[in-house]
Amino acid sequence: MVNLDPDIIPDVAEVDDKTLTIRWPDNHRSQFPVSWLKEMQFSNMSEDPVSTPVRQFWGNEMQHNIPKFSFADILHNDKSLHDWIEALQVHGLALIKDAPHKEGAIHEIGNRISILKTTNHGDTFQVYSKPKASNLAYTNVELGLHTDLTYYAYPPNIQLLHCIKQVQSKGGENQFCDGYKVTEDLRHIDPEVFRILTTMPIDFRNARTDSGKVYHMKHRSPTIQLFPDGRFKAISYSDSNRAPYVQIPVKDVHTIYRAMKMFNTELYKEENKIEIKLVEGEIASFDNQRVLHGRSSFTVTETSTRHIEGGYIDWDEACSRMRVIREKMRNQKPL
Ligand SMILES: [Fe+2]
Repeated sequence: MVNLDPDIIPDVAEVDDKTLTIRWPDNHRSQFPVSWLKEMQFSNMSEDPVSTPVRQFWGNEMQHNIPKFSFADILHNDKSLHDWIEALQVHGLALIKDAPHKEGAIHEIGNRISILKTTNHGDTFQVYSKPKASNLAYTNVELGLHTDLTYYAYPPNIQLLHCIKQVQSKGGENQFCDGYKVTEDLRHIDPEVFRILTTMPIDFRNARTDSGKVYHMKHRSPTIQLFPDGRFKAISYSDSNRAPYVQIPVKDVHTIYRAMKMFNTELYKEENKIEIKLVEGEIASFDNQRVLHGRSSFTVTETSTRHIEGGYIDWDEACSRMRVIREKMRNQKPL
């Protein structure tokens, strides 16, 4: 930009079948292959298909149609790795089967893409069911449908939950709901509730001590975030991380709670949610800002405990991996 003159006019411009040659006023000569110019022509600069996938919204018919991938294939086969990320983009939910029954599988998948997204929980987090837990996730009580880390300005995009040990008793099922499908329904059922959820900010906070460090994290955002053109950007919804205060005019308090209640009711409709009990070695992967997740209560005994390892990956690195694999398969250079 320092040396750019946007008003410069070439002295001479000549084109043949293969090359455009330009002579500039300072006698500098530039040559551009016609094929390269065709690739770069302005009218062809459409949106990157990897960054803007065509999403397919789903209800409880997904119960029997969850895309499934093998852990070994994702680790050793580029096409499988690509197709798994693509399934996450399109459906927001995919199962990875036959992972080892021990910690570390999440790291292996993260390394296949690039790196895991580290949060103040660490690069991965362990969810053990334990009797005297301070974090709700570590108890055996029901966890309502939510998105993770709503108190972050940049919450993680993709979440992985690896079932290392599962309770043998009843309970401990994971619930999932396509928040974009529910929101799209709401847009038609009650446009005013949709407007409120997409515009009125909600406060989230997390105050805790973890590994000797004291945190007080805060962020506020509307429940449903849209891009200016109306496309979905993200959902932020978490009962347990919603702040005890509501920084909105008192006249709006009833309105916002009524809207959130309606959203919550839609999430829990039978037609919208699915429930699966992960078996040991299965990894649930989902779009943390689209697919809300929850967990039913379960019983912990001396012989029946539960251990989940979780981690996050961001779309930036996942989409980069998809592009690189596509370019490799098509023998293309990155544009
Ligand atoms: Fe969670």
